[in-house]
Amino acid sequence: MCGIIGVLGNHEAAPILVEALKRLEYRGYDSAGIATVNRGALARRRAVGKLANLSDLLVHEPLAGKSGIGHTRWATHGAPTVGNAHPHKAGSVAVVHNGIIENFKELREELSHKDIRFSTDTDTETVALLCGYHMSQGLDPVDAARTTMRALEGAFALAFLFEGHEDLMIATRKGSPLAIGHGDGEMFVGSDAIALAPFTDQITYLEEDDFAVLTRSSLTIWDKHDMLANRDMRQIVLESARVDKDGHKHFMAKEIAEQPVALDRALNAYTNTSGDITLPEELDFTKIERLTMVACGTAYYACMVAKYWFETIARLPVEVDVASEFRYREPPVPAGTLALFVSQSGETADTLAALRYMEGKAHQIAGLVNVAESSIARGSDVVLPLHAGPEISVASTKAFTCQLTVLLMLAIRAAQQRGMALPEGMPADLRSLPGLIHQALATEQQVKSSSRDLAKAQDIIFLGRGQLYPLALEGALKLKELSYIHAEGYASGELKHGPIALIDEKVPVVVLAPRDALFEKTVSNMQEVMARGGKVILVTDAEGARLAGEGTHEVIVMPQVPNTLAPILYAIPAQQIAYFTAIAKGTDVDQPRNLAKSVTVE
Ligand code: AGP
Repeated sequence: MCGIIGVLGNHEAAPILVEALKRLEYRGYDSAGIATVNRGALARRRAVGKLANLSDLLVHEPLAGKSGIGHTRWATHGAPTVGNAHPHKAGSVAVVHNGIIENFKELREELSHKDIRFSTDTDTETVALLCGYHMSQGLDPVDAARTTMRALEGAFALAFLFEGHEDLMIATRKGSPLAIGHGDGEMFVGSDAIALAPFTDQITYLEEDDFAVLTRSSLTIWDKHDMLANRDMRQIVLESARVDKDGHKHFMAKEIAEQPVALDRALNAYTNTSGDITLPEELDFTKIERLTMVACGTAYYACMVAKYWFETIARLPVEVDVASEFRYREPPVPAGTLALFVSQSGETADTLAALRYMEGKAHQIAGLVNVAESSIARGSDVVLPLHAGPEISVASTKAFTCQLTVLLMLAIRAAQQRGMALPEGMPADLRSLPGLIHQALATEQQVKSSSRDLAKAQDIIFLGRGQLYPLALEGALKLKELSYIHAEGYASGELKHGPIALIDEKVPVVVLAPRDALFEKTVSNMQEVMARGGKVILVTDAEGARLAGEGTHEVIVMPQVPNTLAPILYAIPAQQIAYFTAIAKGTDVDQPRNLAKSVTVE
């Protein structure tokens, strides 16, 4: 998960590259670098750590030239050092790469036998050296890059720049996204359209195995059969490319606050003026016998919640799995299976690979994504846009609640098409969601105080029952990925089967429990925790607080919600607990260590 950018421009390339890299930093931030061609000469500047370090370097050691490539790195092979930072250069070629070259060791072996030496630990250097070798054998830049690309296995998005060629760039992709931006007498390459938004809204997305040759005035694409290919140029919605904090301290704070509006947008997208749920007509649940949902991380937890809804409301059997497991266990796929892939980025490598497994097996493939032109969208028979708007913070928040909202609408529509009775108040109650989320955001004040205690803990447990169990997992994930505190989520009923051994006065236990049919069971679990000195932070509604607040360390009182909507509402305190604990810990909220927003490698 790195970000790459390229420009064949009419202005100095360095500031353009840095501006674009700022918009790609969410994809990885271990190091950054740029290369330009100026008066024929190819030169680089690279720096470890955040992009600001590269910007500082460029102040002291500016780089001239109107043609350039740039990269922001999430390290896969080789530590985050200047030497391992992209662009990598070999002779007269420089290259930037997002992905993993799986056969780089064999290629290194072959190059070593030709007395070619390596100076880094990266797979990307192999690409530069291989291209440089082919040029040394007399191939021109285009043929050298094409020959190199055909030798690579694994996932890659690559941009090549060549000494002495100020009006030439090569771009190619396999398994990682790559967009071409059409400017006015300029051309751009980027990992996504958001990076190119300040320069152009005319975008061409390369397809798998495409090989593109760019000049300022032309774009020529060959497909995987080396046939000339036409890829359509589309105008992106620039509003969706706006990425700023709107006065918030962090993108995460902005995206948490945006949830009422984002959910309203999602609701409007899937309901008509009379409040009926309307789905793409290709999605017909009368033809669906079972549902398989596959995702990663937070998106997976959304699928876990949706399993409760599809099975209880629509009486549809559901299988849910994490993509990294699903793709290798090769499950049988019975007739009538709808395969639903949920992914904010639409580029998660494991989820995309799981989708590829289901091609030709599932009755239908649907993608619930926040990026309409993403690889998962393009691989789906039915695309279900999330309408969450760009989500920049690495921690997924508004995308999660939008995923839940759209999945609930799908479950309700499935129930209707399968002739099942709906829960009382549905689907009308959906309309109350934005207002309820707005009310839930007000728990921020209650959460802030408990977060200061949580920041001192070494281990934290989250508990939930039924449809709130996945929220316990999500709350633990949010907390650990933002504050670096070890946290585990458990089904409340599982506590006594081992995890209760962890409980003592140093281990806070966050219990997510609206006053529902399982509430009394959860209260018993809370008593078991408190009897062993555990500090319970109870997240519940007013009724739950009245019944079980006594003896707890803290009670966070949520608005009263219809039972079916509880998982969506209780995501808010889970997000806020993680956010304020991270602030208390002083970690980097929007770009936590070791992480990236879009995991486009295995
Ligand atoms: C969530 O906060 C994490 N950033 C991560 O688990 C994320 O949900 C996961 O990588 C899946 O990403 P996707 O939705 O873009 O596929």
